[in-house]
Amino acid sequence: NEENRNGFNYKKGVKNLIETAPEMKKLPPEFVLKLPRNPLSASNAEIPVIDLSGLVNGSPVECRVSTVQAISSASALWGFFRIVNHGIEARLIEEMVEEVEAFFSLSSEEKMRYASEDVMSPVRYGTSLNSSSKHALHWRDYLRHYGHPFQNSFHLWPNNPTKYRNVAKKYLTEIWQLAMRIIGAISEGLGLEPNYIENSLGEGCQILAANYYPPCPEPDKTLGLAPHSDHGALTILMQNGVNGLQVKHNDTWIVVPHVPNSFVVNLGDFLEILSNGKYKSVEHRAVVNAQKTRISLAVGHGPQQSTVIGPASPLIKENEEVQYRPITYKDYIRLQQSSTIRGKTALHALM
Ligand code: SIN
Ligand code: FE2
Repeated sequence: NEENRNGFNYKKGVKNLIETAPEMKKLPPEFVLKLPRNPLSASNAEIPVIDLSGLVNGSPVECRVSTVQAISSASALWGFFRIVNHGIEARLIEEMVEEVEAFFSLSSEEKMRYASEDVMSPVRYGTSLNSSSKHALHWRDYLRHYGHPFQNSFHLWPNNPTKYRNVAKKYLTEIWQLAMRIIGAISEGLGLEPNYIENSLGEGCQILAANYYPPCPEPDKTLGLAPHSDHGALTILMQNGVNGLQVKHNDTWIVVPHVPNSFVVNLGDFLEILSNGKYKSVEHRAVVNAQKTRISLAVGHGPQQSTVIGPASPLIKENEEVQYRPITYKDYIRLQQSSTIRGKTALHALM
């Protein structure tokens, strides 16, 4: 039975699993991935770092221009970069991580109140890739919910821990503003009006995924999160001092170390589509470790769900082919979240 295998209810999550079986030395077979030899090896390469102080109002024009160029080139070559001097206070990030830790420390009964199999549900606690995964399970628990525009979901977010809603709203508000600043630079870098992409988002759609990866017996046999690209325009991600994120660059997995006071930014499929393939969404995955709990906060930013997504018309020059078939963002999220094959298969299904 799906719910109870070897005496465990896996749907309650991996944190619950290791608490129920603290002596566990071997990874339960459900989590063992069928991977080629040495699948989790990854290299350390320099990752592009962008200093965002050049985008602040009042900074000299030359600074803005060179920052826009740096973002444009990282977007075309990597679909990925680290940002520093982003203007978000360290204390707010810490507070958000504390609230997320407090949420995951709740009893599994309390967390299961938010469990849902519906990938479009405005609030969702779950485990693995998603709760109905037919594949090897992944060593991850998560809390996902919508952010901006807040009136649609704020009242549904967890109210235990009691400060969660207010702290998360403050965090997500600032992250949204930061994302729009970067999106403005990306718009300019593509040769569009600075507000072109932001306008194309309508009221927008922000989604938080708070990921919780407990220490794992035999971490080399499984993953926290399988390779995928994100569906939105861009994701702003922080990791809590424990490494685990890797990005694929030129067919090699590259470790993205945690660096204090920085975020990493992933370009998602919406931007690959909007730029008609000029910018590439980046494939990434999360590995786990045997010692420490890792928390990551991934915040995705995309268009209002009814938006039909496609390449920006000013970018389609005469005789240029549109590379992706049109689809609403809502249908694209469903496709991407249901995709049984991993990597960028959802995006390739549009080509
Ligand atoms: C994600 O892709 O949503 C999270 C990856 C990570 O945990 O670093
Ligand atoms: Fe992701």
